[in-house]
Amino acid sequence: MLVPHLSLLPLLLTLAILSTSQADLTNITIDDSDLAYFTWIQNTGSFLPNLPWAAITPTSPCVYCSARPPQTADIYNQTWHDGSNNSAGSFTFQGSAVYMYGIDLKDPANISFTMDGNVSTFHYYNGSEPFVFKSLFFSAKDLIENVNHTVSWVLHATRTNGTTQAALFDSAIVTVNQSQTSAPANSSSSTGSPATATKSKSHAGAIAGGVVGGLAAMAIIVLVAMLLLRRRM
Ligand SMILES: *[C@@H]1O[C@H](CO)[C@@H](O)[C@H](O)[C@H]1NC(C)=O
Ligand SMILES: *[C@@H]1O[C@H](CO)[C@@H](O)[C@H](O)[C@H]1NC(C)=O
Ligand SMILES: *[C@@H]1O[C@H](CO)[C@@H](O)[C@H](O)[C@H]1NC(C)=O
Ligand SMILES: *[C@@H]1O[C@H](CO)[C@@H](O)[C@H](O)[C@H]1NC(C)=O
Ligand SMILES: *[C@@H]1O[C@H](CO)[C@@H](O)[C@H](O)[C@H]1NC(C)=O
Ligand SMILES: *[C@@H]1O[C@H](CO)[C@@H](O)[C@H](O)[C@H]1NC(C)=O
Ligand SMILES: *[C@@H]1O[C@H](CO)[C@@H](O)[C@H](O)[C@H]1NC(C)=O
Ligand SMILES: *[C@@H]1O[C@H](CO)[C@@H](O)[C@H](O)[C@H]1NC(C)=O
Ligand SMILES: *[C@@H]1O[C@H](CO)[C@@H](O)[C@H](O)[C@H]1NC(C)=O
Ligand SMILES: *[C@@H]1O[C@H](CO)[C@@H](O)[C@H](O)[C@H]1NC(C)=O
Repeated sequence: MLVPHLSLLPLLLTLAILSTSQADLTNITIDDSDLAYFTWIQNTGSFLPNLPWAAITPTSPCVYCSARPPQTADIYNQTWHDGSNNSAGSFTFQGSAVYMYGIDLKDPANISFTMDGNVSTFHYYNGSEPFVFKSLFFSAKDLIENVNHTVSWVLHATRTNGTTQAALFDSAIVTVNQSQTSAPANSSSSTGSPATATKSKSHAGAIAGGVVGGLAAMAIIVLVAMLLLRRRM
């Protein structure tokens, strides 16, 4: 009598597995102050003054910077990096997409971007607004998950006479697949970048909970089915 009901087991198992492994894309935002992802390379040009990137925070404004955007909620974490001619930087992450955001300004530097060593594109704001917040400087999609990717950039002054040849970097967004990054708990945590390492840690518990919950639900259903069977006998 149990045989026909046991045939439900594959279905129940499939449902339990499906409910825990659904595609789960999430965006995480990383602040320019997070040096686990961002590397700010000092201006290597031969021109004086050879200024490094200025890291602006609410408590450490840049007194010598020519670009001084007002502190608004449109600036992520109220921090940004201000670079000048030849200033360079990079962002290393794991995920399927990346978006680099900054603050556009009038007469800015021309920023050239490189993705995994390949020169991809440049960003240059030719408008006349003093500042444009949350401006998308660079993006890349359809990247292979679970390997390191690096976006690099260099600032190029576009004029020789201006004073505002800067670029202001604010934050980055990375799209991560939570199901994927959390699957092999042991390998992803050892080789993963901080982007996946932090995610996999927090998500492993959720997955485990889902599996346990699914198995418990399945056990209850089977138990009820068996009890019903006995009553009818
Ligand atoms: C992540 O952010 C980008 C840029 O804002 C957006 O286009 C994309 O739809 C977002 N993806 C998810 C999964 O939220
Ligand atoms: C915000 O910026 C401060 C430095 O001003 C930094 O210590 C903190 O970690 C940042 N917060 C986030 C969420 O990145
Ligand atoms: C910015 O740099 C790109 C690539 O080198 C170049 O094609 C473009 O003309 C430059 N734009 C300006 C305004 O300098
Ligand atoms: C750079 O681009 C070339 C041609 O598009 C491609 O074959 C190569 O794999 C790329 N290299 C990297 C590191 O992405
Ligand atoms: C800015 O650049 C865009 C696209 O390259 C162009 O269509 C537009 O005319 C430019 N605007 C100015 C003020 O130069
Ligand atoms: C920016 O740096 C380049 C390369 O070192 C140099 O040729 C150019 O004159 C510099 N521009 C300004 C405005 O300093
Ligand atoms: C800088 O030079 C450009 C042309 O190269 C000119 O249009 C602009 O007025 C100059 N700006 C200043 C402040 O001299
Ligand atoms: C996320 O990863 C899981 C597990 O590798 C995979 O089955 C799923 O297709 C991925 N989702 C997306 C949108 O790439
Ligand atoms: C990681 O997991 C794989 C199989 O899931 C196992 O073969 C391997 O020994 C594990 N590595 C470590 C360091 O635990
Ligand atoms: C990936 O990047 C992280 C952080 O920069 C680094 O610790 C790790 O060694 C890199 N992994 C590989 C395989 O390059």
